[in-house]
Amino acid sequence: MAIEVVVASAVPSDSEALGIPVFVGLRPVDGTRSVDAGECAKRGFTGALGESLVLGASDGTLEVLVGLGEEDRVDLEAWRRCSAAFARTTSRFHVVALNCVGVSQERASASELAQAMTEGALLASYRFEEFKSAASPPLLSLLALVSSETESMAKGVSRAKVIVDAVSLVRDLSNRPASVLTPARFAEIAKGVATRSGLSYTALDEHELEGEGLFGILGVGRGSANAPRLVRLEYAPQSDEHVPLVVLVGKGITFDSGGLSLKNPDAMMMMKTDMSGAAAVLGALQACSDLALNCRVIGLMAMAENMPGPNATKPGDVLRIRNGKTIEVLNTDAEGRLVLADALSLAEAEHPDAIVDLATLTGPCIVALGLSIAGLMGNDDRLIDALGRASRRAGEPTWPLPLPEGYRYHIESEVADMKNTGTTGQAGAITAALLLEEFVGKTPWAHLDIAGPARSREDVGYLTKGGTGFGVRTLVEFLGAYEPLGGQAGRALGKAVLR
Ligand code: BES
Ligand code: ZN
Ligand code: ZN
Repeated sequence: MAIEVVVASAVPSDSEALGIPVFVGLRPVDGTRSVDAGECAKRGFTGALGESLVLGASDGTLEVLVGLGEEDRVDLEAWRRCSAAFARTTSRFHVVALNCVGVSQERASASELAQAMTEGALLASYRFEEFKSAASPPLLSLLALVSSETESMAKGVSRAKVIVDAVSLVRDLSNRPASVLTPARFAEIAKGVATRSGLSYTALDEHELEGEGLFGILGVGRGSANAPRLVRLEYAPQSDEHVPLVVLVGKGITFDSGGLSLKNPDAMMMMKTDMSGAAAVLGALQACSDLALNCRVIGLMAMAENMPGPNATKPGDVLRIRNGKTIEVLNTDAEGRLVLADALSLAEAEHPDAIVDLATLTGPCIVALGLSIAGLMGNDDRLIDALGRASRRAGEPTWPLPLPEGYRYHIESEVADMKNTGTTGQAGAITAALLLEEFVGKTPWAHLDIAGPARSREDVGYLTKGGTGFGVRTLVEFLGAYEPLGGQAGRALGKAVLR
């Protein structure tokens, strides 16, 4: 059951527990309260971010101290995690309240703070139970944020609800088994989203993909009984004025067995989540429309199942991509770049102000940045900076990696324009992105390799085990503030001459 989040000027009379945010040093944010330091010390509560401590109050209700961390380091992400810890601690109650009195608005507005708190609580309460025969115990049903600034807080709460709906959609899609979520099924779901949120929708089936010359997507999908699709969604704001156009591109491999270059069983186990880039694009489009952002957005989702069936692409085969360039496939497990090559070619043909792609693209990106941080690459420093800023505000960490032209030799092919593998053990996230760069022309383009953060190994903070929905919040932040940079792509990063 979904939690209802409301803003209230006083603690509701039926509230069973009151959350009290506390800085390190046991200083409550609401300076008028006192905290039982002895009890905290005895039970190991310090106010560190993510801690919580349940205490009995004199009137028989419960107080829950929730840690916010060091006062001078509190940001929106701290509020998300603090409220997530509160929601987890009180998940077996029905009605609870979180005290937001005294919350400083020096660094963020009341609306932004309310948005962060709502996101944290709702995202931490996400459950995927489609395949559970018994429902889990009832969850929290009402969370009241207690503040005198009810009006601006309420704005943040409703914005957060739209964002959490989109993130939950993405988590559901990532968590759904590949036998259920085929490319065709994904397209049907996208159509439903389009209808509900007023987006225009088209999808190309396997015959239309051939007619359009999308042989990268077809080449990856041809070993599977479940045919590939290219899904296109478009959001256009109501206003008549000229608005910028951003194309979002997503890798949508509904299952990555590796194809004939078969993965080993351990590496294959979680490959139903290899469509998380495409799902994030779908979620972002839903949210853009529901928030009525003033930016035109096209989403291109390249959907295929990578299987080693009798008709599968074989190592050594050459695929001709939509823009006419050819790729020699030496490892069928490097399939993401093949479907993205087609989708990026289509994106460029829309003549947008910017292209952003999201993909669970490479294991090497996990080696470089670990499981929590996405790799951020591209051909335009200003676009990369704008996405980096958006990701920090959203609490979705990214880190830039260079795209040196001097590494282009890693993908040179003897028989085609390029090959789909680099050199084992050397900059695999970068050489994959260098291939993508071949398909965007001079359009400013950024690439997020989300192989690590698309999935969480545990329930932690506001993440839940399984699909995380990574990327939606960054894209919504980015598109909400997007202003065209103008002109062609330009970069200094990675330009250095390599020896
Ligand atoms: N989907 C994988 C990348 C991946 C790995 C995502 C682990 C999430 C977790 C991708 O298609 C892949 O298999 N990439 C290969 C590329 C290699 C064959 C050049 C890889 O990462 O090893
Ligand atoms: Zn693969
Ligand atoms: Zn893959």
